[in-house]
Amino acid sequence: MPSSSKPSKAKPPEAVTTGVFAQRANAEATTRLLSNSNLKRSKARRRAELLHRSFMIETAPPSRLGKAGPYYLAAELASGGMGTVYLALRSQGGVFSEVAVKRIHRHLSGDKSFIAMFNDEARLASSIDHPYVCRVFDFGCDDGRDYLAMEYLRGASLAQLAGAFEAQVAPRRHPAIVARILANLAEGLHAAHTLHDQFGTSLEVVHRDVSPQNLFVLCDGTVRVTDFGVARARVRQHQTDGTRLKGKLAYIAPEQLAGRAVDLRVDIWGLGVVAWELLTGRALFAAASEADLVSAVIGRVIEAPSSARPGVPSELDAIVLKALQRDPEKRFSSARELATALECFLRADAVSHADVAHWFEQLLPDVAAQNEALIRRAHAQVAADAARETDAKTAT
Ligand SMILES: Nc1ncnc2c1ncn2[C@@H]1O[C@H](COP(=O)(O)OP(=O)(O)OP(=O)(O)O)[C@@H](O)[C@H]1O
Ligand SMILES: [Mg+2]
Repeated sequence: MPSSSKPSKAKPPEAVTTGVFAQRANAEATTRLLSNSNLKRSKARRRAELLHRSFMIETAPPSRLGKAGPYYLAAELASGGMGTVYLALRSQGGVFSEVAVKRIHRHLSGDKSFIAMFNDEARLASSIDHPYVCRVFDFGCDDGRDYLAMEYLRGASLAQLAGAFEAQVAPRRHPAIVARILANLAEGLHAAHTLHDQFGTSLEVVHRDVSPQNLFVLCDGTVRVTDFGVARARVRQHQTDGTRLKGKLAYIAPEQLAGRAVDLRVDIWGLGVVAWELLTGRALFAAASEADLVSAVIGRVIEAPSSARPGVPSELDAIVLKALQRDPEKRFSSARELATALECFLRADAVSHADVAHWFEQLLPDVAAQNEALIRRAHAQVAADAARETDAKTAT
């Protein structure tokens, strides 16, 4: 046996004293020890494991966020009217992976009718399986707080991206990139609209809240529609606690505002408003008050995007204006039909995921690195949390 493989030759890790730098150096030494397969099951390996764990516990920031069901909450990302969104980790077979957890505010978790609606919609959302729809993995209740676990998106919402538009985008390429993003989002919507149950009956899924906050572009150039189906629960929340649908009215179809029956064409309207705004860099229905906003959505003349931003091709003008017909019968009859029209336009200027990724990086250059740093920190922190939990269990 070569001498290097003898456990006795391994430098014992207890040389480490205190202080973060000393601990880090020691952790590196113990990591090297742990990777030596010849030390398997040896006493030295066990000591190294314990030391490595104590390093993780002492140097990782303590988690004050706790858990939601099986998910370790690692960082708060944002807090909105319905709940708080966290970067969280789940363990599968000892391997941690990232998820986003939306935890419903406590006062809403106490509202039985809201939660029943939220759960119905979450169940529906979890059955949508499409590359351009944010995957919902799971939903449940922990300590009186309802939560939803979904795919963690490394990217930005169109609302976040819109802020970075002006000046930075090469005007010639911009319309085609926007068309690619919209075509893919329309495909995601179509997958949900055509969802069937096991007997082949249409589930008639409608998003109802197609707005820039719920549409994401990822760093890899792909897109995701998020929050499928939570809109109905939000209307209930609005009725219950009087919160305004602020920032949402501008994307709600006229027939929905008028309280008439809605179908998937309200989502085509929403995507039409988003398209108009992405192409022009301006709000379509800006107004001083909610009442003015509602009357603008219902009756204000909608100009072609090119009249607000010269350079938008006439084919795109026609597509956007068709999506924004106030009479739903005159709109595209399905999201796929809209996607097909956009694909026809794109035949002259093909745009790949790589092109969108490059565009994204130009607009928001730090997002990818920030995400990686956040995820790395989350792993260190949760590993420490999990180790603490195991140690506490062993001690009792
Ligand atoms: N799956 C996700 N992955 C990563 N970040 C997310 C995810 N979902 C939401 N976020 C982050 O949390 C923020 C808030 O999302 P949330 O859905 O709670 O509110 P919103 O989209 O602004 O409004 P709405 O209540 O209409 O959904 C998003 O802007 C985004 O930054
Ligand atoms: Mg959302």
